[in-house]
Amino acid sequence: MDTVQRFEGLEEEVRESFGEDIVSLRREIHREPELGFDTKKTAEKVLSALDGLPLEIQTGVAENGIVATLKGGGDGPTVALRADMDALPIHEETGLSFASETDGKMHACGHDGHTSMLVGAARALCQDHLRERLNGTVKFVFQPAEEGGGGGRVMVEEGVADGVGSIFALHLWPGLEFGKAATKAGPIMAAADAFEMEIKGKGGHGAMPHMTADAVVIAAQVVTALQTVVAREVNPVEPAVLTIGEIEAGTAFNIIPETARLGGTVRTVDADLRKRMPERIEELARGVARGMRGDVELNYRFSYPVTRNDAGAAKLALNVAGELFGEDRAVEVEYPSMGGEDFAFFLEELPGAYVWLGVGDVSGLHTPRFAFDEEILPQGAALLAALALESLSG
Ligand code: NI
Repeated sequence: MDTVQRFEGLEEEVRESFGEDIVSLRREIHREPELGFDTKKTAEKVLSALDGLPLEIQTGVAENGIVATLKGGGDGPTVALRADMDALPIHEETGLSFASETDGKMHACGHDGHTSMLVGAARALCQDHLRERLNGTVKFVFQPAEEGGGGGRVMVEEGVADGVGSIFALHLWPGLEFGKAATKAGPIMAAADAFEMEIKGKGGHGAMPHMTADAVVIAAQVVTALQTVVAREVNPVEPAVLTIGEIEAGTAFNIIPETARLGGTVRTVDADLRKRMPERIEELARGVARGMRGDVELNYRFSYPVTRNDAGAAKLALNVAGELFGEDRAVEVEYPSMGGEDFAFFLEELPGAYVWLGVGDVSGLHTPRFAFDEEILPQGAALLAALALESLSG
């Protein structure tokens, strides 16, 4: 059998047999968003959608995560498919009929879609005619706490990657043409690190600056100076971002505050550059602050590492997408996104690939109006199923 025949009809089959259920599960999850590791109700919805399938189910992984295991028709390797389940602390403004019923929480990163696509893939692959084609085992990994909690790291620590040969994950991707699957070998998402910096000055009367060390003015100089780390110290062809997203200082217009606080994020793709950044940030900020009779204290947190696709797995994913959807819908991207992703922790342990699935020109991820055409969901479920079929075709 050639590969074209292998996936022929799979997308239509998934849409016709499971499409409605995938969409209604997505809407149920969307209505009731949960944050971080606290994805208990989402996990319950997943469990009830998997009920009755020939899966070995492990619950309570990384608190509220689930690993569902399907033994195929042969004794080959294990492939894992991973979806994230958590929402964001954003107040939804989509106006959808199934919008979030919880003020201040929203599925604004599409994880409701990822979860329901993975359930769809599990249901498809559990059918006898597909299951018997799996020469090995499929693990369906439902992960909490992608948005900052590092649920992927906890899952790896709890052994989810043990015995697994390769792993894949999809992410719905605004800005990529609808229905296209895109990935690349090597880095696809950046390392996403964070820092807080306290600027220490000497407070006093707003009319007597000479008696103070003005933390606001120091902070302003530090923010500007830090922009030169990327602009003047990083090789211009090397991707890097330094963003200060928070500045806090002061209590009244006529008081010079004692301290100021900065919060920022650093995105890098190169491991050595990543390690060098905290030292350069601290040295530069300290030099500026001391020149103005102040000082700084840096609290730097290495958070999500680079999401680095295995070259073979990325190629497999592009081939599968090309065969399933047609060549014009499989896109090899040139540059990584500077966003972060805790799927990185799995890819530090295992070969695998992170794949973007285009939802076209819609409001961006992490915005209150993020919404997408649900027609993408059965397509993504079919892609996940095809990735497992191809990985276990030996
Ligand atoms: Ni996301």
